[in-house]
Amino acid sequence: MARRKKLYEGKAKILYEGPEPGTLVQYFKDDATAFNAQKKDVIEGKGVLNNRLSEFFMNGLSQIGVPTHFLKRINMREQLIRSVEIIPLEVIVRNYAAGTLSERLGLEEGTLLPRPIVEFCLKDDNLGDPLVAEEHIIAFGWATQQDLDDMVALALRVNDFMSGCMLAVGIRLVDFKIEIGRVWEGDFQRLIVADEISPDSCRLWDIETGKKLDKDVFRRDLGNLADAYTEVARRLGVLPTNATHAVKPTLIN
Ligand code: CDP
Repeated sequence: MARRKKLYEGKAKILYEGPEPGTLVQYFKDDATAFNAQKKDVIEGKGVLNNRLSEFFMNGLSQIGVPTHFLKRINMREQLIRSVEIIPLEVIVRNYAAGTLSERLGLEEGTLLPRPIVEFCLKDDNLGDPLVAEEHIIAFGWATQQDLDDMVALALRVNDFMSGCMLAVGIRLVDFKIEIGRVWEGDFQRLIVADEISPDSCRLWDIETGKKLDKDVFRRDLGNLADAYTEVARRLGVLPTNATHAVKPTLIN
């Protein structure tokens, strides 16, 4: 069998050429990185969990009319996605203060924000993904004003959907990051949610106990990361309810 062509390898995923033009295969690795890859480890089963969770969120978004790149899950670690032109910005939505917002503004972690706040960071590992203002984005041509308006609207719809999903299972969506891509349909372009939505790119706290169920478990050495993600998947019904410990990749497909 011909080997697939690897197009890109990132910190947590690999992109391969897809079976048809305009498609790609997205492979979820077990690698975990934090602090711009200064901290690294391999967390057995993380890729399997993130593949399933991203499928769950992207499918849910499609059902409420939010366009995404997700086409179908192929196997445990791979999904078929639409190929997009990634906008070089990370879009962060925050409901409660945490992480860099807390550091920047001296806000105690967990402070409820007056309303959801959308931030943009430039996707550039060498610069540590710096926060940028709309002025920079327009002036340097990373996106147009129309793109920005569409990105904010998409991000807030994702926030409403994700907050609701999480609230229903006793989890507070503190903040998250999404990436957005451009697709062309004839002469028209539109923006769709791309990359992944998983506990790697969200802050998720148990509503009752405040227990962290996201990548901060790894960043801050708070316990077993795969156990935390398994807990999220189990509560959402993505895994059988009796799966209380990290799933071995061979157990689910
Ligand atoms: O997470 P960190 O403290 O580095 O930065 P943040 O600006 O507080 O992150 C806000 C949210 O975006 C968190 O849920 C992060 O997990 C997520 N994020 C991400 O997924 N990838 C990045 N490169 C930066 C932030």
